[in-house]
Amino acid sequence: MTRYAVIGASSGTGRQIVRYLADKHVQVRAISRRPLAAQEGVEPYAADVTDPASIAKALEGDFDAVFYTVDIHGLRNSRETVRSVMYDGCINTIHAAAAAGAKRFVLLSVIGPDRPSWVWWILNAIKPGMQRNVLDRERALIHSGLSYVICRAPRLNDSPGGVIPIAATASEHRLDMGMGIARADLARAMARAAAAAPERTIWDIYADSGGPIPAWLRTDKR
Ligand SMILES: NC(=O)c1ccc[n+]([C@@H]2O[C@H](COP(=O)([O-])OP(=O)(O)OC[C@H]3O[C@@H](n4cnc5c(N)ncnc54)[C@H](OP(=O)(O)O)[C@@H]3O)[C@@H](O)[C@H]2O)c1
Repeated sequence: MTRYAVIGASSGTGRQIVRYLADKHVQVRAISRRPLAAQEGVEPYAADVTDPASIAKALEGDFDAVFYTVDIHGLRNSRETVRSVMYDGCINTIHAAAAAGAKRFVLLSVIGPDRPSWVWWILNAIKPGMQRNVLDRERALIHSGLSYVICRAPRLNDSPGGVIPIAATASEHRLDMGMGIARADLARAMARAAAAAPERTIWDIYADSGGPIPAWLRTDKR
């Protein structure tokens, strides 16, 4: 039986992934500091990614994929605090997933961290060091030895989704405010990436009625 772990499960995209998987009757461990309420097929689990022992325990088990969707909130976080959650938390999770034998790591990232964009200037002002953290954790995953898929997203929104088709390309876009995607749609794409995207690949995933839809995204496997 397929079994997944979602980290950052209590809100945003992580919560949408849990909802999507539960609807598909996939077993999921839903991990966050404030766990969700239990429901059929969903095992709420309290853990903090900044505590290596805590996230190592949370990932014990035979997971077919681990989704990493953690984000840090608040406007006045120091560079060190941002790094401890965005980068160190992700590294702790990568190590824990590798030690536990997770079969795939699906990282929610941001479009264009390696390309100049005025949007990065704003994001780095809000979350000091954000672009560097996004790049560093992608590189750490690439060199971890784990099977991975990196899903780079543009601006997220909480519309119900299912209206504009989801497109995905190899990573080639600059970050700009013209692109976007509903968290519900991104969750569906990430579930499909876990099940069917080629391993060791990086994708830009966004809403676009005329955009390319790779074979793995067409699958209804998940
Ligand atoms: N916002 C955008 O427009 C945008 C665009 C592109 C990419 N992204 C990326 O998408 C990801 C998810 O964003 P989102 O807005 O959908 O999510 P979100 O609503 O901000 O949720 C973040 C999740 O992380 C958990 N979390 C925070 N600190 C944690 C910790 N120390 N240990 C364990 N869990 C922790 C939170 O739960 P608890 O507080 O209960 O722990 C929550 O479940 C982020 O990585 C972000 O960089 C965002």
